Amino acid sequence: MVSVAVLGAAGGIGQSLSLLLKLNQAISRLSLYDIVGIPGVATDISHINTNSAVEYHIGQAQLDAALRGIDIVVIPAGVPRKPGMTRDDLFNINASIIRELIEAVADHCPSALLAIISNPVNSTVPIAAEVLKARGVYDPRRLFGVTTLDVVRAARFVRDIRPNIDTSVYIPVVGGHSGNTIVPLLSLAEPQLDLAQEEIEDLVHRIQYGGDEVVKAKNGAGSATLSMAYAAARFIESLIQSFESDSIIVEPALVDLAADTQGAKQIKTLGADGLAFFAVPVVLGKVGIKRIAPLRGEPSLLERKGIEIAAAALKVNIDKGITYVIKKS
Ligand code: NAI
Repeated sequence: MVSVAVLGAAGGIGQSLSLLLKLNQAISRLSLYDIVGIPGVATDISHINTNSAVEYHIGQAQLDAALRGIDIVVIPAGVPRKPGMTRDDLFNINASIIRELIEAVADHCPSALLAIISNPVNSTVPIAAEVLKARGVYDPRRLFGVTTLDVVRAARFVRDIRPNIDTSVYIPVVGGHSGNTIVPLLSLAEPQLDLAQEEIEDLVHRIQYGGDEVVKAKNGAGSATLSMAYAAARFIESLIQSFESDSIIVEPALVDLAADTQGAKQIKTLGADGLAFFAVPVVLGKVGIKRIAPLRGEPSLLERKGIEIAAAALKVNIDKGITYVIKKS
């Protein structure tokens, strides 16, 4: 049985995600934390007759109680985008929130697996790594930027133009988690896809900017919350399964390539050389990342070009995160 903490649990993602996690019978303790609004959300969810005991904690003074004894921490705390904003525009506010929360994780549950949803993921994950390093508790195998929504969207958007394709189609998505740092590898889809060049270009663009469709449709009321909650619940479910079984469970995530230096070699030769973090499919195990899953085949020329473009933008995002922590310390 597993204990999970959601930090930012009263928000748009946090509420739906907490509901989905409450339905997960493998979770015995669900610890919900926010700086506002959490008593109502937690009390409501706590009446659902599934296994987990639900507890709530509000404000920084209760963060230690929210985290002590926790196995998996998932963080959707922070502000979301409004129309016209990029994920990077969220940096100033969300960087300080992530820093504060990760410091508490380092102090109260340093061995927990950490899944970061708060944007810009390309920078918040390096921030988390730096904070954990500074506290002397960093293990790159335990840190994940949640990019599951990109593969969820990829599978769904392909189905929109090929209704016969099963929604379980697997399309690896590598790089980062914003705009042109998101690189869908349609040529490596399983089963293989038969797509015209124009369809490929349209799909790549839609997967890269799918989040903007939601931001525009919500018209100022935020970004993806329901599909994100689904994606995060799937990711947490995979982490839990990897605790409990020896079967091979693969999920994408933005990870520190130091988690598997051998496995990172293939990724680096694709044009990601010099990058410390990259979104890749990883094989999950009892302590987090077991290894980076090798790509099954060579990406197309267009995709390799996409990786090069992504790598340049991603490097700027990563450096911004690292510099933020170094400057503050
Ligand atoms: P929201 O504004 O609805 O919820 C955020 C919650 O965080 C609020 O309840 C707020 O009180 C809480 N919060 C703020 N400061 C906090 C702190 N210091 N400690 C704990 N909680 C705090 O936002 P929403 O829509 O739930 O999005 C959350 C984040 O997730 C945003 O940064 C958004 O960009 C990101 N996101 C990430 C995606 C991904 O694929 N990784 C997809 C969609 C959104």
